[in-house]
Amino acid sequence: MISDLWYKNAIIYCLSVAGYMDANGDGIGDFPGLMRRLDYLHGLGVTAIWLMPFQPSPMRDDGYDISDYYGVDPRYGTLGDFVEFTHGCKQRGIRVIIDLVVNHTSDQHPWFQDARSNPESTYRDWYIWADRKPPNADSGVVFPGVQKSTWNRDPVAKAWYFHRFYEFQPDLNTANPHVQAEILKIMGFWLQLGVSGFRMDAVPFVIARKGAEQKKPIEQYDMLRGFREFLQWREGDAIILAEANVLPRTDLEYFGDDGDRLHMMFNFQVNQNLFYAMAAADCRPLVKALTSTRPRPATAQWGNFLRNHDELDLGRLSRSQRATVFNAFGPDANMQLYQRGIRRRLAPMLQGDRRRLELAYSLLMTLPGTPVLRYGDEIGMGDDLSLPERNCARTPMQWSNEPHAGFTKSDSPTLSVISQGPYGYEQINVAQQRRDPNSLLNWTERIIRMRKEVPEIGWGDFSVLPCGTPEVLALRFDWRNNAVVVIHNFSPEPREIELEVKTGQTSERDLINLLAENHSQANPDGMHSIVLEPFGYRWYRVGGLDYLLKRSEV
Ligand code: GLC
Ligand code: CA
Repeated sequence: MISDLWYKNAIIYCLSVAGYMDANGDGIGDFPGLMRRLDYLHGLGVTAIWLMPFQPSPMRDDGYDISDYYGVDPRYGTLGDFVEFTHGCKQRGIRVIIDLVVNHTSDQHPWFQDARSNPESTYRDWYIWADRKPPNADSGVVFPGVQKSTWNRDPVAKAWYFHRFYEFQPDLNTANPHVQAEILKIMGFWLQLGVSGFRMDAVPFVIARKGAEQKKPIEQYDMLRGFREFLQWREGDAIILAEANVLPRTDLEYFGDDGDRLHMMFNFQVNQNLFYAMAAADCRPLVKALTSTRPRPATAQWGNFLRNHDELDLGRLSRSQRATVFNAFGPDANMQLYQRGIRRRLAPMLQGDRRRLELAYSLLMTLPGTPVLRYGDEIGMGDDLSLPERNCARTPMQWSNEPHAGFTKSDSPTLSVISQGPYGYEQINVAQQRRDPNSLLNWTERIIRMRKEVPEIGWGDFSVLPCGTPEVLALRFDWRNNAVVVIHNFSPEPREIELEVKTGQTSERDLINLLAENHSQANPDGMHSIVLEPFGYRWYRVGGLDYLLKRSEV
């Protein structure tokens, strides 16, 4: 049954161990610290945690450069601490998803060390080599402006190796069956330790044909079915959530026509057009993105997000749309990154405007799919633009107004807490917001509760309701004889809309507001006329509050 599929109606919260809480006082977050904050996460109402990489790593790409897939970086604790953590989550009904970073390893990984120093090594063919500099070596970089090429010469190997990302991240030869078997072994290992799935890093690159002779990456989609089969055999309800910033026409290649490949994908298409809609008060491209990403197998699900640990990638927008978003949310060169995105956190992008933050979060909760929140966004944390690249939005969680935001007892934390300006920890922290009934934290907790009471969004079908103005988005979700309508006004001005909500029974003329007292009743010809305040939003149930008595079983 579709309603068995936990990920289709989850609330996913993404965090890094390094930045959450430091229990042993050495200045860097750790698993025992995270353990102590599980009650906070439970109280907030999240149902799944996506944990950023925590395996041993030289940390040159925030842990996305792994040097041992079967361990915990000693800075974060031990495997024992990890299992305590997954157990603590299980006790509270929280699922754990971890990053699966297998497009590349760290150059310090023993596999690469052995491969480079010994041409006869069994690991030699685990990487991608060339004797001469390939003609396309300077193309296809992922981090333009920082990364110069995708091929480097290794003096030890006396050969060139391929790296889609930074030069210290040599690509694994994922076409090699031994590498594929190792990827399955890695998944099996962490499943055994209690995780419910994986956020698979850089999927289009993992499955691309690699090598000096490749002009353009060609994806080997079949590989995905192999991962899926193994996963489902080992653990029936485990999932893969893919990071794949691709065009809608290939979505079904990733999901599989019969839902036989990946369970979830981040909806980058909707993400970028959502930011455009917020910048331009124009929902038309967003509606297009929603419609073009609608086709998916019944068991598949989108992961929706606002910001994540990377830059807000606007590469799929048109040049003029991108300029509009830059202009609105990241006008300074220092706020932009890799010639395609914005590296700021959400709250400063929206100038800390509570109305716009609520609009953004209300949308996140009600777009077709499963919401993925980023730690700290629930209190409106800011960024530190003096930090390089994406690190500006990876500062430690701000717990209280105690030294270092209550994140650590150390005098010299590895990551520094934001301590100045309107986003400093004395202004923005959990402890203070917990006490204030009107805080963003308590608003977020309530909106999460409401999202859980509207399962139609995760499990149902959606339609876009015409409402007469491109500044307002009206969506309807139907599931098991019930319907909800959610409306968002992107304009800084009040807007009045006319809406027709058809139901089977003519008697149901009411839209019951789930968040406030102002309900709406259709006029005699069945039209609702609704006035939204600037950046206003509504969640309505169609018909009365006896909806649960009317819900059908199928
Ligand atoms: C993904 C991650 C990013 C990382 C890159 C290389 O895009 O989200 O943070 O730098 O992969 O692993
Ligand atoms: Ca620590």
